[in-house]
Amino acid sequence: MRTQQAQAPRYVVNGGTVLDGRVRVSGAKNEVLAAMCAALLTDEDVILENVPDISDVASLGELLTAVGAEVERLESGRLRINGGGVNLFEAPTELITENRASFQVMGPLLARHGLAASAPPGGDVIGQRPIDVHLEGFQAMGATITRESGRYVVRRTGGQRLVGTRLFMDYPSVSGTQNVMMAAVLAEGQTTIVNAATEPEVQELARLLNLMGANVSGIGTQVLTIEGVERLHGATARVMPDRIEAGTWAVAAVITGGDVVIEDAPWPVMDAMINKLRATGGTVEEQDGSLRVTGNGPLRPLSFQALPYPGLATDLHAPLATLLTQANGISVVHERVFDNRMLYVGELRKLGAEIVSTASSAIISGPTPLHGAHVRALDVRAGAAVLLAALVAKGHTVIDEIHHLDRGYERLDEKLRGLGVEIERT
Ligand code: EPU
Repeated sequence: MRTQQAQAPRYVVNGGTVLDGRVRVSGAKNEVLAAMCAALLTDEDVILENVPDISDVASLGELLTAVGAEVERLESGRLRINGGGVNLFEAPTELITENRASFQVMGPLLARHGLAASAPPGGDVIGQRPIDVHLEGFQAMGATITRESGRYVVRRTGGQRLVGTRLFMDYPSVSGTQNVMMAAVLAEGQTTIVNAATEPEVQELARLLNLMGANVSGIGTQVLTIEGVERLHGATARVMPDRIEAGTWAVAAVITGGDVVIEDAPWPVMDAMINKLRATGGTVEEQDGSLRVTGNGPLRPLSFQALPYPGLATDLHAPLATLLTQANGISVVHERVFDNRMLYVGELRKLGAEIVSTASSAIISGPTPLHGAHVRALDVRAGAAVLLAALVAKGHTVIDEIHHLDRGYERLDEKLRGLGVEIERT
């Protein structure tokens, strides 16, 4: 055990650099994972472009291969998936518990093959993360659900297709909406999803499904209407740039008093974040499809709530909280999406931050000088929060458990070095 820990990669960051330069945002994790599952809805090739090289893509690729799909990395960030050979309707437990998005194979398998089984999904430790919304959606379309040896087994009953219906989601779950929408595209008749998630990654999935021959309307609204079709065909689609990665770079620029051009930033879906960055005193300008973000002098404190889209993304809560440790005064933060997203607080305190928190709120007093320490990346965004803190901490910060960062950020250390940061992956 000791040897394994000694071999696990970690980042060592020497703080104090003012970030300067250009950085390109990679493809969006939370779109590409759903899009990969959507490829199971057809036996023709689905080609995705701008696919990030992150471990969540790799582990979902393994899962798709395990159920019989072909998954092939092509040159220039493209991924080819062919679901023609799918012959296993049960997602292997070790792969499903590694990556929460894996549960989204359920909708496509159920729609196309009438049977899907999976253990409850894994993923970050950011909350209880139930899947009732997914399961109720499948049930409403005529599937039965049983628990067998700890797994959920979902079966189509009756005819050859699920049956379209009007359903209400108790919570506008991102992956729940994606999963139910993927099941509905091949259902007989019309499905209406009321209280659907409107996140850009959900919208992009709907657009991909339409490119594959589906008929989804109401995209971007809380009411999605899906006219079922008998079959889908292949398609080629470009994955949108990751708005959470772009937001992380924006915080990095402001917190270090830097000047960073974030290329390919999807600014039209970043209003909440841009608004908060400006409110703290950062300068954010759109320049030919890029965002130029600069930090100029003292920062103002803020109050914010993490909310479903178009509210401030929960995935940017922890990075923004790090920024507020450097603002002049008291900031108040409320998490309204997940019930365990405050894991970063203890790690930031190790670096010298003054934060008190409850289960879903934090009060941050700033500015506090941060100092290097030994910390952990406890989930992908808590990892981003400590990394951002390390950029302004005096001396060296060692970040362990960076496999969490690898799940969602492509070539993170290389990109940081490109902006002048002294960072080593050891
Ligand atoms: N919820 C339910 N019932 C359900 C599903 C969700 O009550 O059936 C609740 C959850 O407990 C949670 C809230 O709804 O409190 C939000 O969960 P949601 O289902 O919307 O999130 P998710 O689909 O599991 C995706 C992203 C997350 C991102 C959230 C919110 C993927 C693979 N993950 O998760 O991304 O935080 O939407 O935008 O798409 C990340 O990238 O770090 C990350 C965690």
